[in-house]
Amino acid sequence: MAKRIQFATHGGPEVLEYRAYTPAEPGPLEVRVQNQAIGLNFIDTYFRSGLYTPPALPSGLGTEGAGTVEAVGSAVTQFEVGDRVAYATGPLGACSELHVLAADKLIKLPYFISFEQAAAVLLKGLTVQYLLRQTYAVKGGETILFHAAAGGVGSLACQWAKALGVQLIGTVGSAEKAEQAKALGAWATIDYSHEDVVQRVLALTEGRKCPVVYDGVGRDTWERSLDCVAPRGLLVSFGNASGAVTGVNLGILAQKGSLYVTRPTLAGYADTPARLQAMADEVFGMLDSGQLHVEIGQRFALSDAADAHRALSGRQTTGSTILLP
Ligand SMILES: NC(=O)c1ccc[n+]([C@@H]2O[C@H](COP(=O)([O-])OP(=O)(O)OC[C@H]3O[C@@H](n4cnc5c(N)ncnc54)[C@H](OP(=O)(O)O)[C@@H]3O)[C@@H](O)[C@H]2O)c1
Repeated sequence: MAKRIQFATHGGPEVLEYRAYTPAEPGPLEVRVQNQAIGLNFIDTYFRSGLYTPPALPSGLGTEGAGTVEAVGSAVTQFEVGDRVAYATGPLGACSELHVLAADKLIKLPYFISFEQAAAVLLKGLTVQYLLRQTYAVKGGETILFHAAAGGVGSLACQWAKALGVQLIGTVGSAEKAEQAKALGAWATIDYSHEDVVQRVLALTEGRKCPVVYDGVGRDTWERSLDCVAPRGLLVSFGNASGAVTGVNLGILAQKGSLYVTRPTLAGYADTPARLQAMADEVFGMLDSGQLHVEIGQRFALSDAADAHRALSGRQTTGSTILLP
């Protein structure tokens, strides 16, 4: 028997249960990982609340972890028991001591990355890789807007943008978070709890607005984000921290300057083992060169996952949050 987090009904953090379960044997192309650290991501709150639908209930939770290979399927050739690995795109169930997933979802960890760092950086780093380097390839000298800049994804985006010579304007919910985003490389910050985001972006860009706006906040920022995009620019709506964007009238894109909008997912970019590995290599390269460092803002015991969810949903976290089995 092992322990995991599971939920039988949707709801608040209180639906999360820390339960004993019998881990599956790996299928021919699968691997079982003994987790040493687990990454908490906002998507975990969507599956818990019911905004996203898990394949079945009761369900495991979490898609990101790091640990050692504990068992391999009969047809797996690329991994051996004892290998140090991490994953970010597997099936639900990472919030567990032992997790079974397809071998082609695993990444071998370089020696210089600890399990805790890997669980804190892989999913969020892969996300920043595709957002800044693929969805819209930012260029040195550009000024971009990135919401929730002191959060998990945002903390990495501040650093990566700075490394590329990009001026990142980061929105934040408090003065402390503004300080943190600035320290990580944000060029400017806007506290959207009391400042006018659109007026501040117009002032900071001398009226030009931004060629790209990255919005993981969703419902509360959608309209303001559109008003910060330069004519024919792109709004990348990549998350729903404040709720989902719904009921969009396409005509609004015409009114606000012939804008483009995309709603990307990590699964849509890391959709082959080769692409997943190439993206991970770039994240690891940024860590190795010191251009990116991992901000672990909070650590919780796996058994306290409900408290971790309360902190993340309650906007009390900065940087990444990890759970320790
Ligand atoms: N599409 C993808 O591939 C992909 C991949 C990874 C993450 N994401 C998305 O990226 C976003 C950030 O993810 P994360 O895991 O790094 O989380 P996070 O940024 O650490 O936490 C979310 C942050 O959003 C801000 N926020 C604004 N309004 C909020 C509200 N009503 N409730 C809660 N938070 C609110 C808070 O920062 P302030 O207090 O500063 O406002 C909060 O700290 C999420 O929307 C997530 O779904 C998308």
